This record gives sequence, structure tokens and C-alpha cells, in this order.
Amino acid sequence: MPAPRCYITTPIYYVNDRPHIGHCYTTLVADVAVRFQRLMGKDVFFLTGTDEHADKVVASGAEHGMTPIQWADRNAAEYVKAYALMGFTHDDFIRTTQERHKSKVVEYIRKLQAAGDIYKGDYTGWYDTSQDEYLTETVAKESNYKSPVTGKPLAQRTEQNYFFRLSKYEARLKAHIDANPLFIQPDARKNEVLGRLRDGLLDVPVSRAITAEAASQWGIRMPDDPAHRVYVWIDALFNYLSAIDTPERRAYWPPTVHAMAKDILWFHAVIWPCMLMALDEPLPRLVYAHAYWVRDGRKMSKSLGNFIDIDVLEAYITRYSRDAVRYYLLTQGPMGANDADFSHEKFVEVFNADLANGIGNATSRVGNMIAKYFDGACPDAQSNRGEAGHDWPSIIAEHVERAIARADAFDLTGALAEGVNLAKRVDGYINATEPFKLAKTLAPLPPGGAGGGLDPARDRLGAILYHCAEALRAATLLLSPAIPDAAAAVFRNWNCQPVEAGAGHTLAQAAKYGGEHSLVPGTAMVKGEALFMRADPAETAPVAKTGL
Ligand code: MSP
Repeated sequence: MPAPRCYITTPIYYVNDRPHIGHCYTTLVADVAVRFQRLMGKDVFFLTGTDEHADKVVASGAEHGMTPIQWADRNAAEYVKAYALMGFTHDDFIRTTQERHKSKVVEYIRKLQAAGDIYKGDYTGWYDTSQDEYLTETVAKESNYKSPVTGKPLAQRTEQNYFFRLSKYEARLKAHIDANPLFIQPDARKNEVLGRLRDGLLDVPVSRAITAEAASQWGIRMPDDPAHRVYVWIDALFNYLSAIDTPERRAYWPPTVHAMAKDILWFHAVIWPCMLMALDEPLPRLVYAHAYWVRDGRKMSKSLGNFIDIDVLEAYITRYSRDAVRYYLLTQGPMGANDADFSHEKFVEVFNADLANGIGNATSRVGNMIAKYFDGACPDAQSNRGEAGHDWPSIIAEHVERAIARADAFDLTGALAEGVNLAKRVDGYINATEPFKLAKTLAPLPPGGAGGGLDPARDRLGAILYHCAEALRAATLLLSPAIPDAAAAVFRNWNCQPVEAGAGHTLAQAAKYGGEHSLVPGTAMVKGEALFMRADPAETAPVAKTGL
């Protein structure tokens, strides 16, 4: 039977600037969801990319003396570089200036026209130039006729445009949201969407007129009307379809998760689904909008100069490792409805507690004892399964099942916490059974290493350490989506069977105590280097070396 498919996307980011923490964060969240799904044996397609036809790309390119495409090429390359630095595992990186995308956009617009869902008319509205977006009267009023994102004043604009009959799909969309409580998450965000939907849906422009201004030349032409170009947001939303609209990839549709932040939820939870209904396509299963990274409670912005840009993240990676940065962002980030502050103190605290003193210390403690007392050969648990009231096969299974349920519900923080908690239980077990004391009572090791049977103390010690190592193997597996480099080191050192991505197995099988991936008694287990060196809380935050 082929593995079930899964399709996860990130927003495609504007290429007017280089990536920063926000862009890396959403892509990281998606990467971790993807890695969990791959561990569960799914056949996953992970898409990310860049949105290049925005007017601000033209403007910032001009400021740097470059044509729009030169500027887009340069910043798209910065994204590719940042993603490699962060260890993302996307299957494709789409750019909206690519021919494969542009030709599909024209095809989709033609299809909507043929269905009677696109018409030409006059449009007057409040335009947010900083976001390339018209706002409804209600939103414009609520935000005091200023951009809710940047605070810049809104402008009244009238233009002749092509319109999409969004209003026609209002009732169907509402019914879909009601029937699928997990379509928009978190709930706080869904309620905002529902609140705005109560105002009713107006048709939305899907084109912009081409004028003499340079910026207005940039974009995909409307089919059969070279005086208009496709509105950048409509162009961008189509990327999710255009990237996989090939015979080999089509079966991945519909998306399992569209991940993003709250700023662009309306486009994804309202406009996009209605466009898909008009195209007769099934809808995404989950549209997930997390909150923002902020600094000292304030929005990050260029003007405040308080951005955590990619160079800052790189400085953290250089000092603390890429896994450390991934782990901090994931566990302390704005995954739910609330914004999160980036804090150096918190970074060090979490790094020490969960990584250096957590999984790192537990694996090195157990690895060291196996090296010392069993000559680096994996001991055997013999029949001694339930040491000191710990039924490890069941304990491991419980954590793994909970992690799976959480990862499936897109509660990635919750899923990772299962790995952390399992490692903590191993620590507690070591403290309760005191294998280091037991080791003092051992008879000398017979020539040839790990063989037991003659010394009951050695058998018991072997059992304790085997339980610990198996539980830590499972904990490492649960943490591996967040800390892939450290996990790979543990698996390598301990001679674990690799869990192949998308191989049709389940995470439950892979993590199972005594299963096909379990540690094999008698095989070599290398101590290895410490996974994470404890960080000094007194050390000041790392400083970025470069800038553009
Ligand atoms: N190009 C559009 C998206 C089109 S998708 C069809 C766009 N681009 S963007 O470059 O502005 O990226 C917005 C996204 O970047 C947010 O939705 C979020 O994923 C991420 N973030 C940008 N700033 C952020 C924070 N401060 N905090 C968390 N994520 C944020 O909108």
C-alpha cells in the first residue's frame, strides 16, 4: 500500500529584503511538522518559496540600483542560503517569476473567467500601499485609516479592475468553516475571521491597471488584456497549486496545512478557499496562523532597528548550534495566539535546561556508563523489564502516542515536550536505581565484554542501562524534528537503525521498545562528544557579523 500523502506549505515571502526571524520561524514550524509526518511514514511534499511581483520589490530594487528581477534573484538566493543554514528540508522552492508558475496563473485565471467568476468593473477603496492590499471599510475605520501592519496612512484609490465573485461563495465558505472546526486554527484567529465574515463578503479585485509607472509594469499580464496585470496577492496564492500541478505531483493536493502568521490569514482562510471552490478544487485541511515574534513587546521593524535578522540567527547558530536555535524558536515562539518576545536570557535558560542538562546530559550519562561498565557494547535487558516499578515499554509507548496525536493536531510544541519529558523520566530512573552505585558491586568483566549471566549485579545494571538507552533513543526520535543534528549524532554513536523517511512505517513502530529499530545487545555504542556544551548565562548575546 502506498504511504498516505501529506502536503505542507509556508507563505511565499516577499523578496524586497533579506529573511528575518519571522520568515525563518514559519518555515521552521513547517519543517518540523514535515519531519514529524515523514517519521510517521507519510509521503510528504514540503513547499516554500518567494513572492516576487510586489511593487515594493521594484521600489527597493531601484533603491539599490537594480532591476526588479536582479533584486529578486539576489534576495531569493538569500532565502535559499538562510534555509540551508537553518536545515530546512523543503522539496521545492517556488519563485513566482518562474515560467512554470506564470503560465499556470494564466491558465487558472482563464478557468475562473470561463466559469463566469471574474468580471470587469470599477473599484474604489482604501489601499494599504505598504502591504499591497485593499482593506474593507470596517477594517480601514477600525485602524483609523492607517495600515494595521505598518501604521502608514491608507490611500483612497479608484481603478478599473477585474473582480473575482467572492460574494458568490460566502455561504459555502461559512458552511465549510462550521462543518470543519479545525479548518482555521488557532481558535482565537478563527473567531476573528468569523467576526469579519459577519460583515459579508464583497467581490475582490484580482488585477491592477498598468500605467506609465515603472512599478506597474511588474507582474503577470491578465490573459487577453495587456493593460492589466494579475494582482500580486492572487498571483501569490496560486503558488500552492501551480507548484504541484504536474502529473507526478498532482496527487498531493489538497494541502494538509498552510502555515503562516496572523497577518495574512484572511487571504488564506477566505479568499483562497473561495478561489479554490470556483476552480472546483478540494480545500486545504488546515489553515494555521501563528502569532508574531516581537522585541520588548514591540513589533520588529526596520525603523526601530530591533529586527532579529538572519545574521543574528547565524551568530546564535555559530555559538550555540543550529539545533539550539531551532529548539529555542520552536518551544518559545509565538506558535499559538500570543506574540512571543525574543530574549537572550530565555535562550540560554532553555538551552541549558532542555538541551545541555536535558537530552544532552542524559545521553552522555548513559553512553558513558555503557562505555565504562560494558566496554562500549550495548548491554542486554534479559528478562528484567520492570526495574523499580518502571515498565519502560509502556512508558515509552505512552509518550510516543501522545507525541503523535499532538504532531497530527499541529501542536508541535506539545509533541516535542513528550521527548523532553521522556528524557526527564530517564534521569529520574537513574537517580532512583543508582546504576553508578550498583557498578561498584560488580565482579570483574569476563574477557570478551558484555556477556552476562554469571553476575546478577551485572545483569541488573545491564538491564537498567538498556532501559535508559532505549527510552533515550525514543526521546531522541521524538525530538529529532527539532534537533536533527544532535539526533543524528546519537543514532550514529549508538548504532541505531535509521528510520527512513516516508517508508510506510509508523513513528510508534520506530520508537517501540523491543521493535525492529531497537538497540541491539552486543553492538558497539560509542560515547561520542557532548551534544550540547552548557552555556554561560553571564555571556552577552552574540552579535551579528555582517549586514547587507
Ligand atoms: N508574500 C506574502 C505572502 C504570500 S503567501 C501566498 C507575504 N510575505 S511576507 O514576506 O511579508 O511574509 C509574511 C509572513 O512572514 C508571515 O505570515 C509570517 O509567516 C512571517 N513573519 C513575518 N514577520 C513575522 C514575525 N514578526 N513573527 C512571526 N512571523 C512573521 O506576506
